[in-house]
Amino acid sequence: MAIDVHEGLTASPKVLAPKYFYDARGSELFDQITRLPEYYPTRAEAAVLAAHADEIAAVTGARTLVELGSGTSEKTHALLSALDAAGTLQGFVPFDVDPAVLKDASAAVAADFPGLEITPVVGDFDHHLALLPRGERRLVVFLGSTIGNLDPAQRARFLADVRSTMAPGDALLLGTDLVKDVDRLVAAYDDAQGVTAQFDRNVLRVLNRDLGADFDVEAFAHRSVWDAEHERIEMRLESTRAQSVRIEALDLVVDFAEEEQVRTEISSKFRPQGVLRELADAGLAMEHWWTDPDGDFGVSLSVP
Ligand code: AVJ
Repeated sequence: MAIDVHEGLTASPKVLAPKYFYDARGSELFDQITRLPEYYPTRAEAAVLAAHADEIAAVTGARTLVELGSGTSEKTHALLSALDAAGTLQGFVPFDVDPAVLKDASAAVAADFPGLEITPVVGDFDHHLALLPRGERRLVVFLGSTIGNLDPAQRARFLADVRSTMAPGDALLLGTDLVKDVDRLVAAYDDAQGVTAQFDRNVLRVLNRDLGADFDVEAFAHRSVWDAEHERIEMRLESTRAQSVRIEALDLVVDFAEEEQVRTEISSKFRPQGVLRELADAGLAMEHWWTDPDGDFGVSLSVP
């Protein structure tokens, strides 16, 4: 984290990695975001999974569900139920950076699916995919369009890494938010209640606590910007005045000009053909593509 933050805040333009949003408060704020009227992706994806879980269970015949970035595994419930009803389900492997999140997710799933073999794995999907247990007929799921946090080069590497853990009989279920009306996209990342603004600024609180920084959190304004060239939302924090911030653990002073922006997140939006091509480039053949009735969110099933 120290290396990352040092690099990002001495770069021009300045940048921070979205993974640092998620301390306990950040996870709670994200949870609130998923229920905001403007933030449609969670509901749209849940609609796809509810409508097609039985079909996913039938075509994969999966024995093990491997969930990358499992979070609270709430959205996985529909898939686990369908696989359980189909009679193929034996194991669940939640994979997340946060051991506390894994513990809660494992306990919740264990309560709902007695007898299910649960193997939580702590790791960061940038580095630790190789730690995932192998097995026959695994369904690897990566939901919520979290893949959108990665730029195209990072996505290519990530998908190739996932592909390299897969064997014949395995499948990948991937959730991708789709390109749509710009006003809806911008609003989804800049809600009227200001929850997303609090979530964005939370990264500064994390730096204050974990790196001994002295950010005046309220002196940064939240921005949600559509980048039409790269087809992605960028979240940025804009310094409302010229200011200097000291980061104790890095022995660093960072100067911000008035209106200078720090990019805190990219949230890439996809087109069906683009998803097909990115999967194919990683050696994965898309066999199914589902969207919600409004066409807001896509879920693909691909095989090695
Ligand atoms: C969890 C990365 C999918 O990009 O939509 C929500 C995070 N950021 N609102 C997204 C997020 C601001 C979210 N992902």
